[in-house]
Amino acid sequence: MKISVNSISSDQARSLPDGKFGFGRIFSNHMLTRTFTDETGWQDAEIQPYGPIPMNLSMSVLHYGQEIFEGTKAYRRPDGKINLFRIDQNIKRFNRSAVRMELPIMDEEEHLEAIVSLIELDASWVPDSPDSSLYIRPTLVSSENTIGSLNANEALFFILLSPVDPYFATGFNPISVFVEDEYVRAVRGGVGEAKTGGNYAASLHATDKAIKAGYKQVVWLDAIERRYVEEMGGMNICFVYGNKLVTSPLTGTILPGITRDSLLILAQDLGYETEERMIDIHELIADIKSGVCTEAFACGTAAVIAPIGKLGYKGEDVIVNNNEVGAMTRHLYDELTGIQFGRIPDRFGWTLQIG
Ligand SMILES: Cc1ncc(COP(=O)(O)O)c(C=O)c1O
Repeated sequence: MKISVNSISSDQARSLPDGKFGFGRIFSNHMLTRTFTDETGWQDAEIQPYGPIPMNLSMSVLHYGQEIFEGTKAYRRPDGKINLFRIDQNIKRFNRSAVRMELPIMDEEEHLEAIVSLIELDASWVPDSPDSSLYIRPTLVSSENTIGSLNANEALFFILLSPVDPYFATGFNPISVFVEDEYVRAVRGGVGEAKTGGNYAASLHATDKAIKAGYKQVVWLDAIERRYVEEMGGMNICFVYGNKLVTSPLTGTILPGITRDSLLILAQDLGYETEERMIDIHELIADIKSGVCTEAFACGTAAVIAPIGKLGYKGEDVIVNNNEVGAMTRHLYDELTGIQFGRIPDRFGWTLQIG
């Protein structure tokens, strides 16, 4: 694959803004695009200034939502270099999502080369503040100009870069969450384990309901019995039982989170036990009340770990760990962010250094 580079002119180039970035509202100077057609396969990639592209409103993704994406981050190391974290896993998950959504897969090496080339060009956009990072958003959409064909004969791949602060403006502090027992996120056999836009669009109404009721996020239950805890918003969910980290199994409805997987490995390495099992919401509430379950948190790339201090379920609020960050939650957070930012040695070979 060739990558042609059309750099932004120096008078139009912007610098990383000072101060707060928020999450996903600011984009770096460049973006990468690459097209696919059934006849030609994948074309060469192009890096160009970030900005609008010409498109027809008949583009099929706008009608049928045939799209997938990934979310990963570049972290500034203390030595000034840049770390990517388990990027190979994001690239593999991207192709799994592509298969599920009938989009073309991309060679893993070429995908990595595209990400690294773009980051090298916009390296100054990786913040050096301790909690901030550069969010990387590879996306693939069906781009054929038709509202009649349901197969992507043409597809558009692109990568955007966005400097971000911690996902929750409250930082690493407990949030309150609402256990949703009416709306569901995903059903077995559906597309819950694919990172596709429809899953997120489908979650908006329930999230809005939770926010209006004074909570930050929704905890999803399984779609059949509304009984087993699956995920929290766009994150996986974990509970601490004494020395054990417990999380829901990957049953096909849950996104297989890379943070979740990393925490299971890390926890074992740190001497904790881990268990993947169905988590019955009634048992969980009883376990929190009786003090058997001592900590709760959600995990994902955006927030890394979000401690949970309050769970609202069927009109009752249950407080977890006195609404404070628990010891295992903090330990895992410090270790994982330490590896991601290169503050502690990476004993797992998870990071790829750039620069
Ligand atoms: C629905 C959902 N679950 C879980 C996760 C966590 O996945 P990861 O740790 O790979 O970011 C995400 C974020 O990507 C998500 O969107």
